Amino acid sequence: MNKILDEQLSPAQKLATAPPLSPHLLVSGVSKVFRTKRNGSFTALDGVNMHVENNELVCVVGASGSGKSTLLRIIAGLIPPSSGSVFVDGQQITGPGPDRGMVFQNYTLYPWLNVAANVEYGLKRRGVPRAVRREQVAHYLQIVGLERFADALPHQLSGGMKQRVAIARALANEPALLLMDEPFAALDAQTRLLMQEFLLRIWQNTHTSILLVTHDVSEAVFLGQRIYVMGSHPGRITTEKAVNLGKERDYTIKRTAAFHEIENTLLALLREESLKHETRL
Ligand SMILES: Nc1ncnc2c1ncn2[C@@H]1O[C@H](COP(=O)(O)OP(=O)(O)OP(=O)(O)O)[C@@H](O)[C@H]1O
Ligand SMILES: [Mg+2]
Repeated sequence: MNKILDEQLSPAQKLATAPPLSPHLLVSGVSKVFRTKRNGSFTALDGVNMHVENNELVCVVGASGSGKSTLLRIIAGLIPPSSGSVFVDGQQITGPGPDRGMVFQNYTLYPWLNVAANVEYGLKRRGVPRAVRREQVAHYLQIVGLERFADALPHQLSGGMKQRVAIARALANEPALLLMDEPFAALDAQTRLLMQEFLLRIWQNTHTSILLVTHDVSEAVFLGQRIYVMGSHPGRITTEKAVNLGKERDYTIKRTAAFHEIENTLLALLREESLKHETRL
């Protein structure tokens, strides 16, 4: 079981954090041991339990090396867990699937394909008819505000625009769950704030469930309905925190006392965790 900071939660919050009976995503007792020739075996994840409900936006924060990307890759089905299971809508996953879309930190567009073709790629592979593909591509380019750039090549776009194409590409497959690994980490501070608001609007309009990994606590509090905090050595979930700031948010919420209170609690937890491992720095 995840250690929940009971003393910080009201009864309503405790209820909100109890795993539902049939969550959209259920990660159950997932561990990952990497075996390397040089260092023997290394436990990257140890007994991770988490869940994401339908239409929920959940964030995972943790220090570098705490296993956030490993966890996301296991949920995406890109690598298998050493033990434990991942269920999507009650079905155990055994590999990647169109039910889960992934957006990575580094722009992973195909450089030789234009924006429209990048967004269309997954649909084409799945054999979606041409007319439907065109409609979908136009729809999702409009959602990310890039319809005028359909013919542009990735190198002609800014970082924020590339990441919007990557989001459109993931959304075009209409995944029930969008997995995002530090999607805004490479962007400048101002673009990053705009992209956070942009993602919130997309989430509100598409009703996709989102699991987003970040090491930016402010980003996690701004976006998440709930936050999991990960600790290192071994990578595990140390805390789960509900963010009771409502669903409709804009940047002004970052100036409120309620926002700062949650942010400060999480920063203190992360600091405590990293001090434990100070000798390893
Ligand atoms: N394929 C692999 N083989 C061996 N060790 C690995 C492999 N992938 C990850 N690791 C190790 O597992 C640990 C967790 O890595 P991971 O990339 O999941 O961390 P992270 O929390 O995403 O870090 P960051 O914030 O820097 O992205 C690290 O110590 C890393 O070296
Ligand atoms: Mg990572």
